[in-house]
Amino acid sequence: MKGMVVYYSKTGSTGVVAERLAEKLGFAVEGLEDKKPRPSAAPVLSGILNLTVALRDPLPDIKNADLIVLVTPIWAWHPTPQMSTFVKKVGISGKKVFLVGVGAGVPPIKRPCQDLQGGSVRRVEK
Ligand SMILES: Cc1cc2nc3c(=O)[nH]c(=O)nc-3n(C[C@H](O)[C@H](O)[C@H](O)COP(=O)(O)O)c2cc1C
Repeated sequence: MKGMVVYYSKTGSTGVVAERLAEKLGFAVEGLEDKKPRPSAAPVLSGILNLTVALRDPLPDIKNADLIVLVTPIWAWHPTPQMSTFVKKVGISGKKVFLVGVGAGVPPIKRPCQDLQGGSVRRVEK
């Protein structure tokens, strides 16, 4: 099974987690980038409302991966809009997906990325 780690990180912590996971799993790893730099809190509302944000192309190519690990900071109890936008744009149907949320310790992700709903979602909290 071919696997890949895709992450978004604003201030670096999630990037470290993603790189470490990829190294342990032997998976390729790629990061998402904003098209334009943004103040950190600006897209929070986009995350809550499940709106899309502009990402720099090219997006990570996941077509040959059967298993994807998505690693995202948690912003206001939600995955970042950057990660939700990626999922919406590339489509993940037919793939095994792990969603890893990296947060500061307040309650975990309330709603997984919209497009992950309908699959079988199991929460693992640590
Ligand atoms: C606007 C904003 C909202 C946040 N909301 C949450 C939250 O709801 N739950 C949580 O555990 N952490 C929250 N955090 C903390 C971030 O998840 C944490 O700083 C993040 O993992 C840092 O990732 P990064 O260094 O890769 O950007 C928030 C941080 C910011 C900037």
